[in-house]
Amino acid sequence: MYFFSSRAMLIGLLSTSSVQASTIDWEILNTTVQGRLHTAKPLASPCFSVYEGQPSPSDLASCTRIQKNYTSSDFRTQFYSGFSNSQDEICLARAADQCLLDNSVPTDVLAFGGNKSCGQGSVSPYYIDVQSVGDVQAAFNFASATGVSLSIKNSGHDYLGRSSLKGSLALWVRNLRDMSRNPAFVPEGCYGVEGTDTITTGAGVNSDEVYRFADQQNVTFVGGYATTIGVAGGWVQGGGHSVLSPVYGLGIDRTVQFKVVTPDGVFRVANSCQNQDLFWALKGGGGGTFGVVMEATHRVDPNTPLTVAYIKYSQNSANIGRWLEILVENGLQWAKQGWGGHYVASNIISVTPLLNLSEATASMEPAASFARSNNGSVVIEVLPSWYSFYIKYVIPNQAAVGTLRFLASRLIPASLLETTTGQAALLSFLNHLVAVGFSPYIPATAPYLFPYAANSTSATPAWRDSIWELGMGAGLAWNSTVAQRQATIDLQRNLTRMAEDLTPGGGSYFNEALPWTEDWRASWWGDNYPRLLEIKKSYDPHGLLKCWKCVGFEEQVANTSFPCFSAFGA
Ligand SMILES: Cc1cc2nc3c(=O)[nH]c(=O)nc-3n(C[C@H](O)[C@H](O)[C@H](O)COP(=O)(O)OP(=O)(O)OC[C@H]3O[C@@H](n4cnc5c(N)ncnc54)[C@H](O)[C@@H]3O)c2cc1C
Ligand SMILES: *[C@@H]1O[C@H](CO)[C@@H](O)[C@H](O)[C@H]1NC(C)=O
Ligand SMILES: *[C@@H]1O[C@H](CO)[C@@H](O)[C@H](O)[C@H]1NC(C)=O
Ligand SMILES: *[C@@H]1O[C@H](CO)[C@@H](O)[C@H](O)[C@H]1NC(C)=O
Ligand SMILES: *[C@@H]1O[C@H](CO)[C@@H](O)[C@H](O)[C@H]1NC(C)=O
Ligand SMILES: *[C@@H]1O[C@H](CO)[C@@H](O)[C@H](O)[C@H]1NC(C)=O
Ligand SMILES: *[C@@H]1O[C@H](CO)[C@@H](O)[C@H](O)[C@H]1NC(C)=O
Ligand SMILES: *[C@@H]1O[C@H](CO)[C@@H](O)[C@H](O)[C@H]1NC(C)=O
Ligand SMILES: *[C@@H]1O[C@H](CO)[C@@H](O)[C@H](O)[C@H]1NC(C)=O
Ligand SMILES: *[C@@H]1O[C@H](CO)[C@@H](O)[C@H](O)[C@H]1NC(C)=O
Ligand SMILES: *[C@@H]1O[C@H](CO)[C@@H](O)[C@H](O)[C@H]1NC(C)=O
Repeated sequence: MYFFSSRAMLIGLLSTSSVQASTIDWEILNTTVQGRLHTAKPLASPCFSVYEGQPSPSDLASCTRIQKNYTSSDFRTQFYSGFSNSQDEICLARAADQCLLDNSVPTDVLAFGGNKSCGQGSVSPYYIDVQSVGDVQAAFNFASATGVSLSIKNSGHDYLGRSSLKGSLALWVRNLRDMSRNPAFVPEGCYGVEGTDTITTGAGVNSDEVYRFADQQNVTFVGGYATTIGVAGGWVQGGGHSVLSPVYGLGIDRTVQFKVVTPDGVFRVANSCQNQDLFWALKGGGGGTFGVVMEATHRVDPNTPLTVAYIKYSQNSANIGRWLEILVENGLQWAKQGWGGHYVASNIISVTPLLNLSEATASMEPAASFARSNNGSVVIEVLPSWYSFYIKYVIPNQAAVGTLRFLASRLIPASLLETTTGQAALLSFLNHLVAVGFSPYIPATAPYLFPYAANSTSATPAWRDSIWELGMGAGLAWNSTVAQRQATIDLQRNLTRMAEDLTPGGGSYFNEALPWTEDWRASWWGDNYPRLLEIKKSYDPHGLLKCWKCVGFEEQVANTSFPCFSAFGA
């Protein structure tokens, strides 16, 4: 047992921390974690000459390096304080409590010159560079003893501010980087079952690393559309979609085991033979909720050629309507043919393991002929493997980072595209999005053809009869005012409601949903929520792990625990 000297000390709302520990507490913690406790300032702090209102010399060389790499996720992911989306870094409700550069021109002195103060925002003042189970146990003990809140950060890709928490002690898991292949993996405690071909990843392994390793092993790892998403963290615990998901399932359909430290301090193995409730909860219940995952074991498949369609055209206000119509008219047929991809206002990049070149060419003809007659281009080709697709298409087309951007989204059920009235309603909504200045972003990544075993995962069941995730993201300037942030959020809240009305009883993917989704429990987990809440309470009875609208979140504590988000409404 560890003892911490201080009593919790409450200080006001929106201050650096709601609860503080003493210097001695932190020193004891640091000794316990063998010196792996560090202090942190926001990533761009070396550019500023004032920090939290106090003079603090800038560091030109570090600043230049940060400016040059400001929008690189590979750069950001090397540091605890490198978050992909600015809402995880700043305190959204206080425009002065941030330390951002101008992401479009990182050398813009408007952001950091003239003695502008760098605010700590939601970046934790202390983090542990987690290397062992003991580090996590020490953090849980510390949080229980002092009342200091915790946060868990992996890649920092989160869109809902859940990889940080103002004033918390952060657990940074990025440096848990082991990887191994086992072609005949049997979950621990299971007997007499057939082995599965798997790759086991430490908590911090990211998509780029596992794709390269899988390719060296000549197998396919089904993962997300970016280089640095953590594959054992929020991505998979939230569901984890891939352009291969229509055929191969979501990340949660492919995980066969987690090793996790639960908030009671116990290191557990969760799989189909032990801690089954926890295993189920980790497959869709969300990151940062049930424990700190130390590693995950994922099924892999043989390498296989993939047929790719990359079709783009010169979008303008006169032709976008017809393009959207083509997507709606063909979406269901494409899903049946195994196509998974990202459909956006001016192009599609889609991939299927099920069609050969001539079949794919015929399948894509409606989009291709439209593109050809609208100053566009069409590539239909067969690539030898997922890795070759990843290098050629995913890396250059991944979403931007280093920006303030909120997603909003809704899963689109196949049934909506089965009738002409459904198609018309969907098309009318897509046109409305364009009319109010949004650019629809549609990951066609629902596990439409995957043979799902009922209740085998805890994500919203809506995934199982959907074909698309309809995205309605909105970017905000680095220096947006709180009022501008509120206006954008209000508009996205309205659009989310409209999308819900279009798909009654459906759901959405919370990793990419509007953080201010009102009916979030039903939308994000459906009927699974009550059981998830019971499991949360059994493994985390004292609520040591808290995050915004995660399982167990309660509206009554939003204003005190999450003031940077709650200011914008429920
Ligand atoms: C550029 C970009 C592209 C994306 N593409 C896709 C995509 O193709 N498919 C898709 O499904 N999603 C995609 N996402 C969304 C992504 O799945 C989520 O952002 C997800 O939360 C990232 O998880 P992470 O662990 O990498 O990130 P973090 O931000 O580090 O963590 C996310 C959440 O998980 C928790 N967490 C992290 N690690 C652990 C752990 N070891 N144990 C317990 N909790 C943990 C954190 O506390 C936090 O709540 C994308 C996001 C971005 C920014
Ligand atoms: C923790 O200890 C290490 C090694 O002694 C030291 O380098 C580090 O600065 C300490 N961390 C804090 C927050 O004091
Ligand atoms: C930052 O960017 C520069 C120039 O683009 C590059 O040479 C350097 O390797 C990058 N640094 C890191 C740490 O990634
Ligand atoms: C910044 O602060 C320093 C000392 O605090 C002062 O000398 C300097 O004039 C200030 N610069 C600007 C641009 O205000
Ligand atoms: C689904 O599975 C979980 C975990 O095994 C179980 O607790 C729950 O009761 C099941 N729910 C239904 C509706 O079968
Ligand atoms: C890679 O795997 C595929 C599919 O199993 C197989 O056809 C191919 O021969 C393998 N290639 C190598 C180099 O082993
Ligand atoms: C593609 O598959 C079809 C059968 O669906 C077959 O008739 C055709 O010859 C194949 N084309 C190529 C190029 O392999
Ligand atoms: C056609 O496309 C090219 C590049 O793809 C672009 O430069 C040009 O402006 C487009 N012309 C029209 C009429 O849209
Ligand atoms: C925000 O920054 C831009 C430069 O990136 C500047 O043109 C604009 O005036 C700034 N807006 C506000 C509200 O300060
Ligand atoms: C959102 O909808 C409400 C009523 O439904 C309306 O009053 C409000 O103006 C809308 N806000 C935005 C930003 O569209
Ligand atoms: C939280 O604060 C908002 C105003 O910012 C207020 O409308 C709301 O009622 C408060 N919620 C609770 C539970 O206190």
